[in-house]
Amino acid sequence: MRTYLVTGGAGFIGSNYIHYMFRKYDGDIRIINVDCLTYAGNLENLRDIEQRDNYSFVKADICDKEAIDRIFSENDIDRVVHFAAESHVDRSIRDPEIFVRTNVLGTAVLLNAARKAWENEDGSYKEDKKFLHVSTDEVYGSLPDDDSAFFYETSPVDPHSPYSASKASSDMLVKAYIDTYRFPANITNCSNNYGPYQFPEKLIPLIINNALNGKKLPVYGDGRNVRDWLYVDDHAKAIDMVQEKGRLGERYNIGGHNEKQNIEIIKIILQTLNEMLPDSDPRKSAINESLITYVEDRKGHDRRYAIAPDKIKADTGWYPETMFKDGIRLTIKWYFEHEDWMKNVTSGDYQKYYQEMYK
Ligand code: NAD
Ligand code: DAU
Repeated sequence: MRTYLVTGGAGFIGSNYIHYMFRKYDGDIRIINVDCLTYAGNLENLRDIEQRDNYSFVKADICDKEAIDRIFSENDIDRVVHFAAESHVDRSIRDPEIFVRTNVLGTAVLLNAARKAWENEDGSYKEDKKFLHVSTDEVYGSLPDDDSAFFYETSPVDPHSPYSASKASSDMLVKAYIDTYRFPANITNCSNNYGPYQFPEKLIPLIINNALNGKKLPVYGDGRNVRDWLYVDDHAKAIDMVQEKGRLGERYNIGGHNEKQNIEIIKIILQTLNEMLPDSDPRKSAINESLITYVEDRKGHDRRYAIAPDKIKADTGWYPETMFKDGIRLTIKWYFEHEDWMKNVTSGDYQKYYQEMYK
């Protein structure tokens, strides 16, 4: 039975990936989830699978060399899927150091542990061992408004925020392991994800939550920055297909072919909320465009991201399956059905973050 080590599996994409993998492989794989449970890590996201015999959780920091080495010495790990990171751009602008520590040092610790566990004396590797580093399209910087430009795997790396600089650094470390040690790894650079379990510091869940509570909807700058939105299950599937069918050592861009301005996203959410809420719901009357509030722009705000996912399609057959109009309904439905989840994650520290961030 193949054993996966998933880092950051209690976060948004990591938990969706674990659910996806158990739906697909059920009892045929084993997953060990290592996460130190920062503000973004939430074991509630995994409540329905935590009793499985083929799932286990280890609370550990990926920068803790001893703890990570121990996981590799106690388990015969076949696949590493590395999600753990500080992931929010605004937080990186306020406090860059933790981004360097987790995203760069943490990745180095993992690479080293995997290499030590997997490398034979002659420099070859044990059979069928693979490491996948989950990264972002933000490493490529920003595209002009002109919608004919795209990010390719060959696009120059040009990060602008401390977050994207730390992710670009970790990508380069993985690339250095591939080039220097012939380490069996892939890097994936994905566009903006949305879906269940996303922490409401990110645009889509923040707008859903604020609108449902009749709160203002903060739009940075002119609201015309463009992101390429991908439903999170499509990302999970892409990661699996890269490990199953991709060429080792390669970088793959993953994107939704779904570019939208932030202001369009907000208007779609308002419209969809209104369509989905029954007329009897008292919140409905307050959900309209008068909630939209333009606020100070993000520092160094990247204008446009857009992925050309041609290479992953050619090599693995993957393509983004979920249309945005369907994905956003699934997402809103999930938040309707998980009001307690939202209440829990927005109590305490979130309130402090929100006051400071949006004051
Ligand atoms: P998230 O913030 O929701 O989750 C991150 C998880 O990592 C949390 O569970 C957290 O507890 C854990 N973590 C943080 N520091 C850790 C440490 N030192 N040791 C162990 N665990 C730690 O992030 P996400 O949005 O799910 O993103 C996951 C990965 O995907 C990140 O690497 C991110 O750069 C990348 N990515 C995200 C998006 C997106 O749209 N969210 C798009 C492309 C790539
Ligand atoms: O592109 C992939 C990246 O997408 C990931 O690597 C990051 O981990 C993830 O956080 C996300 O980064 P963004 O900065 O694009 O996502 P965010 O949801 O923070 O913002 C999306 C856009 O919405 C961006 O242009 C900023 C804008 N925005 C965001 C917030 C939180 C607003 O206008 N108002 C807001 O309140």
